[in-house]
Amino acid sequence: MAALRSVHVTGWGAYTPSLVLTNADLERMVDTSDEWIVTRTGIRERRIASPTDTTASMAAVAGLRAIATAGLDVHDIDLIIVGTLTPDYPLPSAAVLVKEAIGNAHAAAMDLAAACSGFAYGYGMAHAYLASGLARHALVIGSETMSRCTDWTDRGTCVLFGDGAGAVVLSASDEPGGAMGIELNTETAATYSIWIPAGGAARPANEASVAAREHYMRMKGQETFKLAVRKLASTSLMAVEKAGITLEDIDLAVPHQANVRILEALAKSVHFPPERLFVNIDRYGNTSAASVPIALTEAVAAGRIKPGDRILLAAFGAGGTSGAIVLKWTADPANRLRAEGIGPERVTLLDSGLEPINPFPPALEWMLAEPGHSAAAQTPATAR
Ligand code: ACO
Repeated sequence: MAALRSVHVTGWGAYTPSLVLTNADLERMVDTSDEWIVTRTGIRERRIASPTDTTASMAAVAGLRAIATAGLDVHDIDLIIVGTLTPDYPLPSAAVLVKEAIGNAHAAAMDLAAACSGFAYGYGMAHAYLASGLARHALVIGSETMSRCTDWTDRGTCVLFGDGAGAVVLSASDEPGGAMGIELNTETAATYSIWIPAGGAARPANEASVAAREHYMRMKGQETFKLAVRKLASTSLMAVEKAGITLEDIDLAVPHQANVRILEALAKSVHFPPERLFVNIDRYGNTSAASVPIALTEAVAAGRIKPGDRILLAAFGAGGTSGAIVLKWTADPANRLRAEGIGPERVTLLDSGLEPINPFPPALEWMLAEPGHSAAAQTPATAR
C-alpha cells in the first residue's frame, strides 16, 4: 500500500444571501428583545435565503468560489461532499444538484448528514479519500437554508439560526503541511435534544404532523449548551493530541458559531486565549454546517490566517456529532482574489419539471416588501 499523501486546503469560499433579519425585526415577530438575544447568544443579525436561493444554489456559488481560489478547473474535482440538514429534496442529494450546476464532469457526489458538524465530518471523509490516493481534489461544502425548517413562532429557536454556504477545496499533495490531526465522534445521549420530528420514515409528513408543526426543528437549549461546550472541548483536545501539539501551538481556532457564550465557556474550560478564537456569529447567527467554512473564509479575508499557521476547526451539532481538524495552513491568502466576480448569476439549478412554488417562509414575507431588507445587490440563482 502506498504511503498516505498529505491533504491541503487549496481553495475556500463562501456565499451568504443579502437579505438581513435583525434582532429588532424579530422583536416584531415574537416575544423577545435585542437585549435578550445579544446577551444570551451574541447574535445581532442573520441572513435569510431569498425565494430563489436554495441549499444547492448557495452551495454551488460557494463551491465555484473555492474552486477559483484553488486555481483549478471544475473538472479537476473528483469528489463533492455537501454537509447539510436542509437539502433541496430528500432525494436526490444537494450534492448532485451542485455537481450539475457547476458543470463538473466526473466527481462522485453525496450529502453528509451530521447537522452542524456536517462540514467537519465532510472534511474528515474527504481527507481519508484523498490521503489514500482515491482522488486528487475534493470540494467540501457546508450549506444550509435553516430559515425553511425554523418555527418562526418559537422564540426559543427562531432567534438563533441563519442561512448561507461555505466551501473548501482539499488537494492531495506530497508537500508537507495540511491536516495534522482529525477527530470525529458522536455522543448518542443527545439524540432527541435537537430534532425535526416529522418528514422521515418514522413519522412521514401528513396533515396532522404539519398542523402540529412537527416538520420544524425543536431544541432543548440548556441541555444542548452544556453538551456543546463539553464536546467542543474534548473533541478539539483529541484532534490537537493526534496532531502531536498542544492548544498553545494553535494560532487561530475557527469554531462552529452556535452561541458566543458557548465559545467563551469553551475558551475558559481549556484555557484558550479568547482573542485567538474567530467569531462572526454577531452577523450570521448559527448557519449549522455552513458556519465553519464561512468563518474560515472570513478569517482568511480578515488577514487572521497566513502560511505556516496552525488552525483548529471545531464543530458540534445535533445528534451529539462533533468534529475537529488541526491543520497547517499552506495556501497564499491572496489567492482569494481569484474568486472575485463569481456570484449567484453564475449558478442555474436543473429544473425539476414541477410547477415552481414559493419556498420563502410566510412569516418573513414582509421582508421582501420592505426596502431596508431587499436583496437589491443580489442577482438570485434561478432554476432553468
Ligand atoms: N427571547 C426572550 N426570552 C426567551 C427567548 C427569547 N428568544 N428564548 C427563551 N426565552 C426565555 C425562556 O422562555 C426562559 O424563560 P423562563 O425563565 O420564564 O422560563 C428564559 O428565557 C431562559 O431560557 P433558557 O432556555 O434557560 O435560556 P438560555 O440561557 O439557556 O439560552 C439558548 C437559550 C440561547 C437557546 C441557549 O440554551 C443555547 O444557545 N443553547 C445551545 C444551542 C446550540 O448550541 N445549538 C447547536 C446545535 S444546533 C444544530 O446542530 C442544528
